[in-house]
Amino acid sequence: MEKLLVHGGSRLKGTVTISGSKNSSLPIMAATLLTREKCVIRKVPDLSDTNYMVRILATLGADVERASGNVITSAENVSHQAPYDLVRKMRASVCVLGPLVGRLRQALVSLPGGCVIGDRPIDLHLRGLEALGARVEVKGGDVSVHAAEGLRGAEVNMRGKHGSTVLGTGNIMMAAVLAKGQTIIEGAAVEPEVSDLAAFLNAMGAKVQGAGTRTIVIEGVDELGGAEHVVIPDRIEAGTFLVAGALAGDDVTLENVCSSHMGELINFLRQSGHPVNELPGDRLHISSGQDVRGNDLVTGPYPEFATDMQAQVCALCATTPGISVVTETVFPQRFMHVPELNRMGANIRMEDSTAIIRGVERLSAAPVMASDLRASAALVVAGLAAEGTTEVNRLYHIDRGYENIDDKLHRIGARVERVSQ
Ligand code: EPZ
Repeated sequence: MEKLLVHGGSRLKGTVTISGSKNSSLPIMAATLLTREKCVIRKVPDLSDTNYMVRILATLGADVERASGNVITSAENVSHQAPYDLVRKMRASVCVLGPLVGRLRQALVSLPGGCVIGDRPIDLHLRGLEALGARVEVKGGDVSVHAAEGLRGAEVNMRGKHGSTVLGTGNIMMAAVLAKGQTIIEGAAVEPEVSDLAAFLNAMGAKVQGAGTRTIVIEGVDELGGAEHVVIPDRIEAGTFLVAGALAGDDVTLENVCSSHMGELINFLRQSGHPVNELPGDRLHISSGQDVRGNDLVTGPYPEFATDMQAQVCALCATTPGISVVTETVFPQRFMHVPELNRMGANIRMEDSTAIIRGVERLSAAPVMASDLRASAALVVAGLAAEGTTEVNRLYHIDRGYENIDDKLHRIGARVERVSQ
């Protein structure tokens, strides 16, 4: 098992190149199952999650190869049964359901387990597939979906009590593109990753309109062809480095970003007193604000404040003078980072799914335990400005969603070391 030693105190300076989006790459890789022809997906980050998806596609029978940031697939003959031992390791595997049912009229995928950020149901995915005419059976931890006559277009709603489902919207889009007739998805997720998936599906010959709005209209086609696609920048990785720059940055530039995908975070940082500047050529610049103050935020489905940025912002607010109130509405339990930040001297009190953060002068290093992808990133960010060397254990959590995070941190002057335990 590896851990990251984060030596606090260095001021960050330099340019970091943001990778392609993990949360866009995963459904797009699954969508390649919809055609026998060759697909080339560019700027797929080299992460354990995307590597899991490569293995799942290969185990399903596709020819898959990775070459310098590209994933090249040819899914000529695929099985309908996703491998349990791989699927159970990554919730996002559920997004092979839609393409498998769309193309093969059947799928057998194991139910994703819960995880530390909360229960991860897929009821909205399954209800959507039933609306398209599939028969869904959950048995022995597996989801079995059949549509012997093929799927038929229908009106489906992807909104749950915590907002619209991102992967659910993607799954139903991927199932509907080969269905007979028209599908209308109401209450669709409007995340940029949904729009990116729709762009890829349309490049394959699908007829998807309205992605990025709450209503997506899909006209089913008989078959799809191969396509090439460049994945959008990872707005959460970019946000994580932006927060690092706010916390400990003298002069940090991010390149390969899409700042229009990061509106709520940029507004939050500016309102807190951190100068964020949008530069030409898809770049952002940030340095620590000189006169910063506590600020409040409530997470929500896009375009509201991203739940995936909540932990990192808690790390920033831990040493921001004044009181900050952070409320989580998407995954109400997503506060595994709070006890670890408090071990580092933060003053965070929980009230249900709200963190009341009283800024302290400085955090102090401590051995801390990573628990999920974004909480781990928050602990690394907190360590950058803490007194001493913070030891972030269970580094595999970070490697799921951040490509070469140590190299990127080194490039902007952070003193971090990856060591084996
Ligand atoms: C995607 O997960 C992202 N993952 C998550 O990022 C992100 O936190 C989440 O969207 C919300 O933005 C990928 O895209 C691979 P949801 P997803 O379905 O699609 C409830 C990261 O850190 N819900 O939008 O699985 C659910 O419990 C990861 O990169 C149902 O009730 O999330 C949650 O409260 C973590 N029934 C809310 O909806 C369902 O059938 C949003 O979940 C599906 C979801």
